[in-house]
Amino acid sequence: MLKGRNVLIGITGGIAAYKICELIRMFKRQNANVRVVCTENALNFVTKLTLENLSKNPVSINEFDVEKFNPEHISYADEADIMIIAPATANTISKIANGICDNLLTSIVCAFKKPIIIAPAMNCNMWDNPIIQDNLNKLSKLNYKILEPESGYLACGYEGKGRLCSVDVIFEEASKILNQKQFLSGKKIVITSGGTIEDIDPVRYISNYSSGKMGLALADIANEYGADVTLITTCDTKRNYQIINVKSAIEMKNAVEKELENSDCIIMAAAVADYRAKNISEQKIKKTDDDEISITLVKNPDILKEISNKKTSQIIVGFCAESENLIENAKTKILQKGCDYLIANDISRKDIGFSSDYNEVTIIDKHGCMKKLSRASKSDIARQIFETIYG
Ligand code: CTP
Repeated sequence: MLKGRNVLIGITGGIAAYKICELIRMFKRQNANVRVVCTENALNFVTKLTLENLSKNPVSINEFDVEKFNPEHISYADEADIMIIAPATANTISKIANGICDNLLTSIVCAFKKPIIIAPAMNCNMWDNPIIQDNLNKLSKLNYKILEPESGYLACGYEGKGRLCSVDVIFEEASKILNQKQFLSGKKIVITSGGTIEDIDPVRYISNYSSGKMGLALADIANEYGADVTLITTCDTKRNYQIINVKSAIEMKNAVEKELENSDCIIMAAAVADYRAKNISEQKIKKTDDDEISITLVKNPDILKEISNKKTSQIIVGFCAESENLIENAKTKILQKGCDYLIANDISRKDIGFSSDYNEVTIIDKHGCMKKLSRASKSDIARQIFETIYG
């Protein structure tokens, strides 16, 4: 199943290091190529000879123990399809979360652009430490896959959460990622996300409640499926694919138009403000004795409509946020916009949509065909959207 796939396993200094011998064998049995890098401390728990015999490859510990000049952290990072760090100690987790590269393993992680699985193992009090939890949350938000430890009897004599999860779980998670269809490989996909921000004066603006989560989920899944992804967003997001930060509708339009020619698909998940202030005051607008104030708004360009008019072979997808008459309004909207697909979502519901991690949508195509996707996580919805468009 995993023939020819390159698995890089990073072992750090925890007692569970011995369990990784079995993990290596599981990958070898599926004909994967396995390379192992260790921290110095890992070798207190498992020998280099054992790991080399099982992986059938030399085991490296630091950047300088190579025979010929070859920046190993870069070549390892380039060649592997996935990296698994198991067991991951609190020390290594914290180094990775803070960009520290003081050994071969952490240097590889810093240069690694493909999926990384982290399987922590440590004493339960260390696991509960808010600093460690903050670091893990940070990594999780940056798209590292954290496989939580199990609870039980720990080697240090304590009982609690901290035991390395089973190697079966690690193997299954890695296999799932490695076997994922790379059906978007070679495609350039541009996604917009977040609510645009339209300035009124230096301290005030018009915006909306869009969290940018749906657009981010689409970008993450497209990246997982092998696409060349560009996310144009108003949100502060860090990823290892291209992110273009914009603020207003006009900035978003310029960025989208720049990408149009070289893209295969553009998905407008952003909530673009329909209007902006006609004049942005350079100075803070002062309060007056009047009880009312008027701000003149002018229409923003309709980015989706404009790119749908200009497109050649690209697939253009819009979103449709409605608080009533969802399907009826969506059917009218797809005709007005001229896009290929419209993803309709009901923003009146609290359990889906804006700010939620879940969504429930209906995909409508330009011929009026509809497909309802039941309530699921935004990642699952994103997966189903790509499977519908490219399936
Ligand atoms: N959109 C856009 N430019 C705008 C407004 C919206 O590109 N100025 C895009 C959104 O990114 C979304 C789609 O158009 O993909 C529909 O957005 P929505 O807010 O549902 O509709 P509007 O066109 O703004 O119409 P209305 O607010 O009247 O429902």
